[in-house]
Parts: sequence; structure tokens; C-alpha cells
Amino acid sequence: MCGIIGIIGKNDDTVSHLIEGLRRLEYRGYDSTGIATLDNDAIARRRAEGKLQNLERLIKAEPIAGNIGIGHTRWATHGAPTVNNAHPHGNGKVALVHNGIIENFHELQKQLSGVHLESETDTEVVVHLISDYLDKGLPPEQAVHETLKQLKGAFALVILFRDFPDMLIGARKGSPLVVGYGGQDAEEYFFGSDALALAGLATHICYLEDGDWAVLKRDKIVIYDEAGTQIDRPIELSTISSALIGKGNHKHYMLKEIYEQPTVLGTVLSAMLDAARYHVQLPDLPIAPKNIEKITIIACGTASYAGMVGKYWIEQWAGIPVEVDIASEFRYRTPALPKQNGLCIIISQSGETMDTLEALRYAKQHGQKILAIVNVEKSTIDREADQSIYTRTGPEISVASTKAFTSQLVVIALLAQYLAQSLDKSVGGEKQPLELMRGFSELPSKLIEGLNSEEMIKTIARDLQEARDVIFLGRGKMFPIALEGALKLKEISYIHAEGYAAGELKHGPIALIDEYIKVVVLAPYDALFEKILSNMQEVISRNGKVILISDRQGIDAAKQQINTARDMELLSVIEVPSCHQDLAPILYSLPVQLLAYHTALIKGVDIDQPRNLAKSVTVE
Ligand code: AGP
Repeated sequence: MCGIIGIIGKNDDTVSHLIEGLRRLEYRGYDSTGIATLDNDAIARRRAEGKLQNLERLIKAEPIAGNIGIGHTRWATHGAPTVNNAHPHGNGKVALVHNGIIENFHELQKQLSGVHLESETDTEVVVHLISDYLDKGLPPEQAVHETLKQLKGAFALVILFRDFPDMLIGARKGSPLVVGYGGQDAEEYFFGSDALALAGLATHICYLEDGDWAVLKRDKIVIYDEAGTQIDRPIELSTISSALIGKGNHKHYMLKEIYEQPTVLGTVLSAMLDAARYHVQLPDLPIAPKNIEKITIIACGTASYAGMVGKYWIEQWAGIPVEVDIASEFRYRTPALPKQNGLCIIISQSGETMDTLEALRYAKQHGQKILAIVNVEKSTIDREADQSIYTRTGPEISVASTKAFTSQLVVIALLAQYLAQSLDKSVGGEKQPLELMRGFSELPSKLIEGLNSEEMIKTIARDLQEARDVIFLGRGKMFPIALEGALKLKEISYIHAEGYAAGELKHGPIALIDEYIKVVVLAPYDALFEKILSNMQEVISRNGKVILISDRQGIDAAKQQINTARDMELLSVIEVPSCHQDLAPILYSLPVQLLAYHTALIKGVDIDQPRNLAKSVTVE
């Protein structure tokens, strides 16, 4: 998704602050950048393909100045990632930046007879619409408002005016936009795609609602609703400090966030679980547990795999039927939803994923009550849900989701426990499963212990990075973790990988097995271990290399069976601490995250911002 920043300052350091804001936005994923300022009463633009450093180099070579400006990181939707298509777009009188898609830009283009469009983007038409209204003598506020009424689709816009040097106007509809300022006697006022973009710049944040538009001046903010009526929106202290979004002493955000998991899960557990009293602390659910007829879990990517594990937990512990679907399929297949008492659980780190948001809206329109499991408070999904549970991970910057994923798993597991408890179900034969409660409480320390396998993982990654293909196998609750391991590897190392239910191997994928393939087997020593051991033997007997991720018991059991010199050549192991078997998916996420990270590190690719990816995909 694109990133937006706008600044009205009192000094001439606006360009450096715009660059700082764009740096905060890099995590969203992008392929070009640009800024525009009012420099000596003229709009000056600098735009560059590729990484932010290219723009910085350009500005160093061709400096611009000014104390008012806008900036943008573009993730290409309409038009290739070229300078011509990079934002800001402008015509000398107006310059603007945009996140979203103007769906009716072709018909709007037809209104602009005689106008030469310099780009292939949907955004540029908005420049000319506003400019036309200004030419007709409308004040900028009205010119923008009249233009907004004509736009269909999703947009967050910030507009700069040549003839109004003390004003920026921003608008949001379907794509997030916040207003920020540095306290009462603020030196600067801001627009940003999210609070993260303004971390370390703005101390106070105001979240615009869909349809809102705001006029920023040097000393005040005026907000209007879609009808043009002036309104107030709450202004709150920003909770995101610039320290929170540093990499610390880690090389990449992804590794920092992997290492944060013990602390993050500790925070979630202490906020939601009193293990000694078997008490799970949750906000009131939109439907009383005893009335829930069916649960539908909807998400995208990694979040959807958390939902898949959630299905196992909820059905096993609470006995409520659960269906899991990926958001981009859900609303196009006419799902059979309960007319009454259907609970829809929406899982999203960013709370802005458009596929997931549209699925939420579809489920709501079809009578489902919405419970969101979300990381970014005040995000669109958070605000449109009937109730939210926060994963409390703090900002997750790396495009590859790690701490948000394990936090989603813990939240869903606790939700499943809460449902079981509410329905007076016995879990593992107990009404108060102390072993399981202990298992929850031990998770942070088990994750810390799991980090001890990192050196072994680095060694295995050296071999893995030469693989033509990698297959991840898991059974039961470990099947979604196999899917997640495959996604992690392919999204940051660009090695082709697929996750399969281990029992499916013989129904086709086994045809892939030869000496060029690696098979990662996720198998705690549990009731399914013997079955997955035979899958490993099927692979090894066909010269496939196996990387077994298991606990000490599982590794010992495997080595008793796979014990010829030849076979042992084909077997590598990664040891995971033993844990409560129902919670294994949480612990086994760590080695697959580290495996992907170290493989990508050896390949020397961009780990935090992999090619073509965005941190949150705010387009369908
Ligand atoms: C995860 O590593 C990916 N970046 C991606 O699958 C992500 O989980 C998915 O796009 C959903 O994002 P969300 O959780 O912010 O909705």
C-alpha cells in the first residue's frame, strides 16, 4: 500500500522531515518515492524510482526547499513503477499524493478535454479536477470538496496549492489518513497514512473517519464531514515513539520482531490470562458463547493460517463449528452463513487489508456479528467490527509478519479456552486443565529457549538456499504452520515453497521428490508422530532431504528409525523445546521464521521490504 505524509512547518527543515516521514512509511512496501514543496512560490517536485535513497540522492543533486510539502511512497497499482507515475502528481498549480484506487478515473478523464496527462495513473485526474475548480474561482476548500463528490473508490489524498502557501487539505475514504501536530504551540502540523508515519514527529494524533476531509493551516486544523459540515474528532497523544520503531541492535526489523516474541506473548498472556484461576479476560463477545451457532474465521495470508489453527482449538475445546476462509474468496462464493447467531472472526495485523475489510462488510451485511483480532487500534477493521481483541505486539514493521502471527495464535487459543469455559466444557478431561494453563504460562520462556536453535538453523539455511523447491509438511494443528513456513520462505527468500498436510504427500506432491528438493517436517512428538515419520521415510527413500523440526523425544524416535549411514546423510534436525502439545503451533512458528530469515540473509535479498510486497494490501 502507498504511504502519505504532509507537513506545514515554520522552518525550512520541512524537506528533511518529509524524508524522515517517508522512511517511517518504507515498511508499507513501495517501488518509487517523491516529494513536493512550495519553493519560492512555485511547486517543486522531486521523484525517483526504487528505494528512498534514490530520492535522497536526487534531492542532494537538485535541492529543493520550503516549509510546506507532501511526500509519497508508491506501491504500483495503475501504471508501472516509473518516475512519471511516481507521486506527487501536479500541474504547477496543484500537487497531490494518493493512497487507494479511483475506480471511475476513466470517465473522469473524459471530462478533462484538452488536458495532457503525463502519467498512466488513476491519481492524476484528481489534480486536474481540483485545478479546474480553482480556475473557476472556487476557494481551495470548495474546489476540493466538489472534486471529492465525484470520486468513486478508495482514497486518502493530501493536496498542496501554489497560491495558498499556508494550507494543506487531506481527505480519506476507504484508505486511512491521520492528522498530527506537535502539541499546543506546535511548530508543525501533519497528515500521515497512519500514526507510525508521524512517529517522532507528531505528539498528538487525530484519526479521520471515512468521508472526512481536513484543512491544515499553520496554527489550526479544521475537519469537515462528507457533507461539508464542520465536525470535531478526538485528538489523542500518540503512543508510538520513534524509539519503538527503531531496529535496536538487529540487522533487520524482521529479526528484531522475531526476538520480541517472548516479550510480546508475555504481554498478551498477562493481559488476558490468570492461569492460576483458569480465568481468561476478554471483552464481552458480540454473541453470548452459548448462543453461537457457527463461527466463520476470515483473513488473508499469514493471518489466515492463524485462523486455521484457531479452528482446531475452538472445535476441539469448545465444540463450536468453525469454518475458515481466505477473505478474497469468501464474499464471492455465496457462503452459507447462519441467519441467527453467526459469529465472524476477522484477523488482521494492520486492520487495513482491503480483502479482509470487504469480507467483514459482507459478513456484517449478512447478519454476522463481527469480532476482530487486530494489532493496529483505530484501524478501519477495528472501527467497523462489533468488538475487537488487540494483539498488543506494538508496531510490526517488517513486511513478513512474525510477532503479530504468534500473538494472533495466543489470542485465538485464549478465545477458544474462554468459549470452552463459558460452555462448561472439559478440556483434556478436565474442567480446569492445569497442564494447559501451565503450557500457556511457559510459552515466553519456551520461546526464549527455542532461540537456542538459531545456530543450527543458520547451518541448515546454507543448504536450504540452494534448493530448487521446498516442501513443508505438518499434520493436525501443524498443517497451518507448514503453510506459514512455506509462505515465510517464499515471501522473503523468493525460493519456491509449498506447505502440505503430510497425509497429502502420497496424493501427488511425492512426485516432486528427488535429490534437489528439501522437505521441512514439523512434527512434535505427539499422537500423529508415527504417521509423519513414515512420510519422512517415504521422502528419504527417494533421495529427498528432510529437515525435521521436533522436540528431543521426536528427534530420538526418528533417529531410531532413520539410522543407516545413507539415510542419516539425508536427515537434518532442528530441536524445539518440549511443550504442551496443543500449543505446539505457537512454538513451532519460531524455527520456520528463523529458517526463512537466515535463508534470505544468505541470499542477500531485501528482507524487511521484499520485492513486490506491501505490509498491508489496501487494494483488492
Ligand atoms: C505475512 O508475512 C504477509 N506479509 C501477508 O500474508 C499478511 O499476513 C497478509 O497480507 C494479511 O495482512 P494483515 O494481517 O495486515 O491483514
